[in-house]
Amino acid sequence: MDDRPVGFFDSGIGGLCILEAFKKICPCESTVYIADSENCPYGNKTAEEIIALSEINAGRLIGRGCKMIVVACNTASAAAIDFLRAKYPEIPFVGIEPAIKPAAIESKSGIIGVLATEGTFNGRLYNSTKEKFARGVTILAVVADEFVDLVEKGILSGGYAEGVVRKKIEPLLAAGCDRIVLGCTHFPHLSPLIAKVIKGRAEIVEPSQAVAEQTRRVLAEHSLSSESAEPHHVFIGSMPDNLLSVPKYAISRDQV
Ligand code: DGL
Repeated sequence: MDDRPVGFFDSGIGGLCILEAFKKICPCESTVYIADSENCPYGNKTAEEIIALSEINAGRLIGRGCKMIVVACNTASAAAIDFLRAKYPEIPFVGIEPAIKPAAIESKSGIIGVLATEGTFNGRLYNSTKEKFARGVTILAVVADEFVDLVEKGILSGGYAEGVVRKKIEPLLAAGCDRIVLGCTHFPHLSPLIAKVIKGRAEIVEPSQAVAEQTRRVLAEHSLSSESAEPHHVFIGSMPDNLLSVPKYAISRDQV
């Protein structure tokens, strides 16, 4: 039994999708979440810059006593997870990458669309997974940084957001994609809008649940699980004002 918190970080509020899934399946675990909104977006930064920011975030989480860290950001996982594991060998890390493997296996049309940041598409992780598991499947990769901006501004619905989403999704559907992979943790916040645009023409694939389950597994493997009856949750960073009244986003906050 280890009651120290599990740390999460993202360039902003994207990773809250993973945090939410994790809190549901591990209700006894305390958490600390860093939204590095000040430095958002990470997607168009160099690998060196992302490594430097990830090192700061991980250092802050470890400074707060975190027992393990979930890199709740595809872009940071792509650029920095190897560095973080080497720098903090005593801390287990879980990262995230676009779920192209399940999408490729399940696709019937043999064409899948992947929405992510440039940083994720340039990473070793994405390219080796693609090489290993998506042979024979056509992958249409689309950089959708505009979605990150919408989410960080709390614009999750309405005509403007729908137009931005439609512009990225419609060409994928027209090209025959039957699976659309959300390869950035910001994008599931737009899932209702994305589903509205897709209108049943393709499946949305996103790995928040799988990452939450992997985190639970890693905790158990390292004998780090908690059975606390009073877990607490700390949010460090900023959140768009209009989301503060939405129960899903109304989590305890500790501004620094
Ligand atoms: N949420 C991050 C990801 O999963 C990236 C967003 C950004 O560009 O900062 O890749």
